[in-house]
Amino acid sequence: MKMRNRLYPACRRGTGGKMSITPIGGRPQDEPRSDRPLFLQKVTTSTLRELKLRHEPITCLTAYDYASARIVDEAGIEMILVGDSLAQTILGYENTLSVTMDEMLHHVKAVRRGVKRALLLADMPYGSYQLDDNDALRNATRFVKEGGAEVVKIEGGEKRAELIRRIIDAEIPVAGHIGLTPQSVNVMGGYKVQGKNLSAIEQLMRDAVALDRAGVACIVLEGIPREVAAMITAEVATPTIGIGAGPECDGQVLVFHDLLNLTFAPGAKFVRRYGDAAALIGQAVRAFGADVKSLQYPADEESYHLPKETKAGLETVLARKRAMR
Ligand code: KIV
Repeated sequence: MKMRNRLYPACRRGTGGKMSITPIGGRPQDEPRSDRPLFLQKVTTSTLRELKLRHEPITCLTAYDYASARIVDEAGIEMILVGDSLAQTILGYENTLSVTMDEMLHHVKAVRRGVKRALLLADMPYGSYQLDDNDALRNATRFVKEGGAEVVKIEGGEKRAELIRRIIDAEIPVAGHIGLTPQSVNVMGGYKVQGKNLSAIEQLMRDAVALDRAGVACIVLEGIPREVAAMITAEVATPTIGIGAGPECDGQVLVFHDLLNLTFAPGAKFVRRYGDAAALIGQAVRAFGADVKSLQYPADEESYHLPKETKAGLETVLARKRAMR
């Protein structure tokens, strides 16, 4: 029996009415439609390919909670990544190795509630995909089923290609991540720029091609020389998203807290501070403290008042009590 989508007629245009579609975010107007400009459409993995073909730079930022997700989504950023960088930015861990599936899921769910248009990516944390392929599939599925993620991100190139194929076979789009992969911090001996000699460049190119062939939705290129990122970007059909990889990538990603000076440490070379939220928030918090101490807050206009009749009645009762004393 054919399923009709009466609630979301716009969906019929794309599917010929042959299947039901539940749009994430629930708004029929977000469904991809060729008569709507790209910047108004729900971003999907196909949008990324289309942007690469058009040489239109792709934007991506991390977000970790409902408020930051709404701000980033409503600003028109195309991809939102719930990065495992939340281990440091939100949870105060020393590196990304400690963050768990449950902690990641908690944040993915919060971000999901704030995102309507952007493509939502969730980072698979360390230990959730390295040990066993079946576990990896189960964990990837949790991000989609419980968290509402549309893409999962996995660090590693050639050596992860087989696993990535299996996850894609399970209908879950995957983002690759090569170069400086923070989950390999102990193997790399620190957060060091990768791909600086000929054999390392060759390996990076093999990694990128393996991910491209596996069918990933995009490849994050982190901490590699501009020249190498440019070569990879020209070689693969998959959109590349750079972070510390120069301007020739198909898109750029930054960590929300880096962008806003919320990291309590100097940024890496590639970080550009677009705002100083630490100063703004610090100033507001200090002003609140000072106002409370000096009885400037709350003012009468910031207080609730009794209705006139109740106030008059209360005054009568109090006057009687005073008279009886
Ligand atoms: O965890 C993260 O924020 C990331 C980005 C830096 C790409 O992986």
